[in-house]
Amino acid sequence: MSLSADALSRALAALAAGECIGLPTETVYGLAADAENPEAIRKVFARKGRPADHPLILHLGAVGWMERYARDIPAQAFDLAERFWPGPLTLVLERGAAVPLEATGGQDTVALRMPDHALALEVLRRFGRALVAPSANRFGGLSPTRAEHVREAFPDLIVLDGGPCRHGIESTILDLSREPPLILRPGAIPRHALETVIGKLPIAAEVPRPRVPGGLPRHYAPETPIRLLPREALSSTTGGSLVLAIGTLPEGLSGIALPNDPSAYAQRLYAALRELDRAGAASILVELPPNEPAWEAIQDRLRRAAATPDRAS
Ligand code: TXA
Ligand code: MG
Repeated sequence: MSLSADALSRALAALAAGECIGLPTETVYGLAADAENPEAIRKVFARKGRPADHPLILHLGAVGWMERYARDIPAQAFDLAERFWPGPLTLVLERGAAVPLEATGGQDTVALRMPDHALALEVLRRFGRALVAPSANRFGGLSPTRAEHVREAFPDLIVLDGGPCRHGIESTILDLSREPPLILRPGAIPRHALETVIGKLPIAAEVPRPRVPGGLPRHYAPETPIRLLPREALSSTTGGSLVLAIGTLPEGLSGIALPNDPSAYAQRLYAALRELDRAGAASILVELPPNEPAWEAIQDRLRRAAATPDRAS
């Protein structure tokens, strides 16, 4: 990855001036702004078209920054940060005084993570403060995994090109502000990896949970209707559809086949959905992934993408 010193200093100057930039991370690209500047945070909401009560994730340049942005931090948070940061784990903690309410949608908890991407970390360290960074797509759209996806959504934005995102699916969000802790959004770090550090986690469906935008039924969705089907059922559907298959495309069908490995599949998922969405098919038929823990985050994103529009809010 080569990036001119000039591009970096322009990005830093924009952040210092309270503007947004496109920031690569290991999960998806973020629409980043100064997390301590309420005016800059308002610009993020305005650009995304995101309701102001939907909280943002703060991105940190070092594990030690956690204590600036959270308070009453439980020991589990330090254990998890030591094991998984930098990396795709977001921790929800009690909000520290340095965090404006604009960033948390008025809540007294805050979501923190330290991204595992060299360019993101360089920007954070040089900026010296946390950056809010929701995925750099318009509200409800597909998350961007390449710089050009961000430029398509926001043509006038300064975008740092950090190459294709390594994970391609958003961070796992773990709420440590409640007892027992709860996974609010499955993501790039699987449940069992967290459980090796803090023990068994409850399943979200069994516990009352706060309303979060990633929790809306329809999210991460392309324009073309999506249907999730078992592999055997893909071929029996009528023409005009494109297929997103696992491993190989079934005989006689057109579309895209993604690798039969959850990490490799996730890395290419959003780009594949964009490509299929663009092809102008009547619908996109998605092969149901195996019902296995390693596919949990992918299952989650596909179910949301397939949720019918009238269930959106
Ligand atoms: O991988 C990621 O997490 C990416 C990259 C850019 O870091 N970011 C991302 O941000 O996915 P966004 O804004 O698209 O999703 C943020 C999620 C939302 O579902 C939001 O509700 C949740 O984080 N969240 C933020 N603060 C929260 C809080 N205090 N309590 C509960 N959920 C929170
Ligand atoms: Mg998002």
